[in-house]
Amino acid sequence: MERIVEPELMERKDQVISYARADFSEGENNLINQINYYLIKNGINLNKGELIVDLGCGPGNISEKLSKKWPKASVIGIDGSKEMIRIAELNKKTSSNRVPLKNLSYICADIKTLKLSEISLEKNISLLVSNSLIHHISYLDDFFNCLEKLSSDQTINFHKDLKRPNDEKLALELKEKCAAKHNDILTNDYYASLKASYTLKELKNFIFKSKLTSLEVFEEGDQYLVIYGKV
Ligand SMILES: C[S@@+](CC[C@H](N)C(=O)[O-])C[C@H]1O[C@@H](n2cnc3c(N)ncnc32)[C@H](O)[C@@H]1O
Repeated sequence: MERIVEPELMERKDQVISYARADFSEGENNLINQINYYLIKNGINLNKGELIVDLGCGPGNISEKLSKKWPKASVIGIDGSKEMIRIAELNKKTSSNRVPLKNLSYICADIKTLKLSEISLEKNISLLVSNSLIHHISYLDDFFNCLEKLSSDQTINFHKDLKRPNDEKLALELKEKCAAKHNDILTNDYYASLKASYTLKELKNFIFKSKLTSLEVFEEGDQYLVIYGKV
């Protein structure tokens, strides 16, 4: 199936509200567990003073989970949509279990023009994460340039996203499954996202061509792709 790009930022209020109200907690918890597993496997501890950055953080669901999992580290969520950041800030204030997320902050910025100095003047980023961001980015160069700009040789990257279905039939089946759980706005966004997603081959080719070969790319189940490692 040909890739069809979708708008990068999620800015429409109805779109943001539908996304923010949906329950993606199962996938989010899996992501946190996966990151934890890779950190443990590589003997990495996220101690006091370390910095975690969540790119394309949306309403902050994953940023909050990162902040609770590694309370000694600082967590910064970044999104280019003002409306997403407004909701993320609101969610932080009214967060479940009323755990004060003192180590969590948000920045509204586009990853294409983001500079490390906007995030931190003195700290390197220990963990650079994104979930469901890559398919929004029109050109892969923009995504990987951002990783290169923000990463040091110590930064662990962990990025998860949808995988583009092989054909329209599978895309429509996945859309129908989504419609059984979510409203029309979210279902249509999900369908557009599936079409905008990259394939394993596209990511692998880009990584190879750009000589970012310390990054690993793999399929997770039949719907997701994971990029992991150092740039
Ligand atoms: C599908 S949402 C994922 C949100 C969150 N990571 C999650 O998993 O719940 C994608 C987010 O990426 C943001 N985004 C897309 N392109 C971006 C860019 N160029 N710079 C910053 N944020 C971007 C969108 O505004 C949106 O909030």
